[in-house]
Amino acid sequence: MTKLLLSEPQSIAEAAKTIRSGGLVAFPTETVYGLGANAMDAAAVEKIFSAKGRPTFDPLIVHISNLSEIERVVSSFSPAAQTLADAFWPGPLTLVLPKQPDLPDLVTSNLKTVAVRIPNHPVALALIEAAGVPIAAPSANRFGHTSPTTASHVFQDLAGHIDLILDGGSTSIGVESTILDLSTTPARILRPGGITREMLETLIGPVTVFKQIKKPGQKLLSPGLLEKHYAPRAEMILFKGPDAGQRLSDFLDEQKDTGKSIGALAALETADIIEQSGVLVYRIGSITDLASIAHHIYAGLRWLDDQKVDMIVCRDFGELGLGLAIQDRLTRAATRVIGN
Ligand code: TXA
Ligand code: MG
Repeated sequence: MTKLLLSEPQSIAEAAKTIRSGGLVAFPTETVYGLGANAMDAAAVEKIFSAKGRPTFDPLIVHISNLSEIERVVSSFSPAAQTLADAFWPGPLTLVLPKQPDLPDLVTSNLKTVAVRIPNHPVALALIEAAGVPIAAPSANRFGHTSPTTASHVFQDLAGHIDLILDGGSTSIGVESTILDLSTTPARILRPGGITREMLETLIGPVTVFKQIKKPGQKLLSPGLLEKHYAPRAEMILFKGPDAGQRLSDFLDEQKDTGKSIGALAALETADIIEQSGVLVYRIGSITDLASIAHHIYAGLRWLDDQKVDMIVCRDFGELGLGLAIQDRLTRAATRVIGN
């Protein structure tokens, strides 16, 4: 049985007890909901993989509540790491650093590095603090599915498989943290997210963006880079590039007589026009407000799936700032990408 509790002090204390005794707790962060276990307890961490149906070659992010805890997780903390931690923690930045030997190898899938962050959410911070241990937590969805931005998304995916869900409302950022690998020079972004490339470069100079997507048989550098990820059930088509709008509208014309029900994630500026072609529209925000778009994409994909559309269409929003993270998630969620 999975308990769903509003996050208030008593339920946070109960959740901390569950973590300490080797159980699984889903909790809100500022990005998406995480599925947490005691990072120092291999048997507890193992339960995360089975609850999610996640392959054990996909390492987890370790969450701490205070920089004073960092030595429990990493074996060295470079000046660049310190600079970034000072600027962005607590916040949506995950740093890949040399792993502390005591941390179970299952957490890092036998890598010599560990991904670590301090989340910027009062419930997450209170839970980690009360548990008194670092908490390993991937996103709280079934493996490969759309990440959860509300407690009910978590419930839909994981009820019956985990002990407790702390409901802290809808998450504010809505896409996962930026993952920055500091073990290379220059540092490289393995997954774009809430902290943008531009924000990182201001502090530590040039940063590369790792865009390679795994081919069969190739070793995974960061398994979040699995090509098919964050996926809705419906077939999804993403339109990219400068003429994406035109291609999208031509495509909708072609689909008119196929009898397929089509849903769209659309910006406020184009929603009305798309709606006029008989498409079910989920409005994700203004094109001048990428934060709103990032905040709404996962909820939109889940909502359109719930409406049982056959196909979901949308277009990307460029690569500047949060646009890069939005483009990354939409590309991985898509069955097909048209344009470049
Ligand atoms: O915002 C977030 O990052 C959320 C919240 C809950 O903190 N967590 C999250 O976790 O998105 P997850 O498991 O969905 O993604 C973790 C990613 C995976 O893609 C994994 O491959 C990568 O982090 N990762 C973990 N350890 C790594 C390592 N040592 N080197 C490279 N990538 C690593
Ligand atoms: Mg995930």
